[in-house]
Amino acid sequence: MDKEKLVINGGKPLKGDVYISGAKNAAVAIVAATILCDEPVTLENVPEIGDIGICVKILYEMGASIKIIDKNTIRIDTRGISDPVVPYELARSIRASSYFMGTLLGRFKKADVPLPGGCDLGDRPIDQHIKAFNALGAEYSLEGGIVRLRAKDLIGSQIFFDKHTVGGTINAICAAVKAKGLTVIENANKEPHIVDLANFLNSMGADIMGAGTDVIKIRGVDYLKGITYSVIPDQIEAGTYMVAAAATKGDVWIKNVIPKHLESITAKLRKVGATVEEYDECVHVYVDGPLLKTTLKTLPHPGFPTDMQPQFSTLLTIAEGTSVVTDDIFDNRFRYANELRRMGADITVEGTTAVIQGVPELTGAAVRATDLRAGIALVIAGLMASGTTVVENIYHIERGYENIEDKLMGLGADIVRVREYETVKRTG
Ligand code: EPZ
Repeated sequence: MDKEKLVINGGKPLKGDVYISGAKNAAVAIVAATILCDEPVTLENVPEIGDIGICVKILYEMGASIKIIDKNTIRIDTRGISDPVVPYELARSIRASSYFMGTLLGRFKKADVPLPGGCDLGDRPIDQHIKAFNALGAEYSLEGGIVRLRAKDLIGSQIFFDKHTVGGTINAICAAVKAKGLTVIENANKEPHIVDLANFLNSMGADIMGAGTDVIKIRGVDYLKGITYSVIPDQIEAGTYMVAAAATKGDVWIKNVIPKHLESITAKLRKVGATVEEYDECVHVYVDGPLLKTTLKTLPHPGFPTDMQPQFSTLLTIAEGTSVVTDDIFDNRFRYANELRRMGADITVEGTTAVIQGVPELTGAAVRATDLRAGIALVIAGLMASGTTVVENIYHIERGYENIEDKLMGLGADIVRVREYETVKRTG
């Protein structure tokens, strides 16, 4: 049980500069994809977060050699892996462990991977992943919670996804990259981290075209060479600081970002009254008037990301008027609403829609993170609220946000991490 908490003394606008780390959802896929590489690779701009730690540990326990060059640079040599079996408990703690299905299958033509874990956002089936593996010639069975994939040979094929899936698209790319002949993935997802994975694989010698569009063509290759590759900046971490800046009516320069990846978030922030200025590798967000209601619906990229919905909904709790938020990508992405109500928010959830009636302010309370993005949304709520907020179960937040309290302290927040038995000592 996690005994660490974040204690936030809220009500202060965030001000200053914040540097965005490498993208979690790109890095987890790229770390898993090092299995496909025939030589050692060096990855830069890898965020130092819980999910990466687990992915690297999975590689290590399977026999890879790992060298931590500095906190954001890792050298990985997966040539020592001989048995494509992912350790059970590690796989069950993150969703991204599912990527080992595609990467191990792509290299060994077989894989034993426990059903993945990760944020509890409702049902998270893998039928589309299996559809892709089947299309390439692999047989699937599930035994004792372990996905077993076996193929005599992987042969390029046509894969049509019946529904949008980030993980399915990534797994299909990884399984096809060394398959014989041409694979065409239709109705593929277009998230920046999918493009980053394709760029990583192409830099090693893969032949992938169309990543970032809904048709991806992959011509199988035999050999992938070692490279040094730098992970893209995290779209969701950047969006989180943009929303935190606006929600606290602050003035923040968010640096080391790709503004194009942030367009849907920028557009929504402008809609609710924030000013967002875009520069080459930086966005400047500030608010000097009231926050206003809006309607919001999450969609696959380039739509508004589901991973930004809890943060944005939290901002809407103090926006004038009634906002309506629909997020049907997962069944259960509003679990933070109960916690926000403790802080005085007027938010009603029915199914996959939330109706949020703006209130003048939130007040501090003890709240509990239920998943990664819900957790960071509660931190934003604590920054917005008057009084003291205590966010528990912060291990969820550490899975995806590097140096959260240091970055927020750098923006003037009064936030401190405490262990249950420690006296609260305020900083900031
Ligand atoms: C990825 O999850 C991200 N995780 C999630 O980020 C993100 O919320 C999600 O994409 C949507 O953008 C990682 O990148 C590690 P999906 P993933 O496959 O791949 C259904 C975060 O906070 N579906 O696009 O699991 C599925 O149930 C995390 O960083 C099927 O029905 O998402 C869901 O309703 C949380 N069958 C929808 O599709 C399948 O075979 C989208 O899932 C696969 C998915």
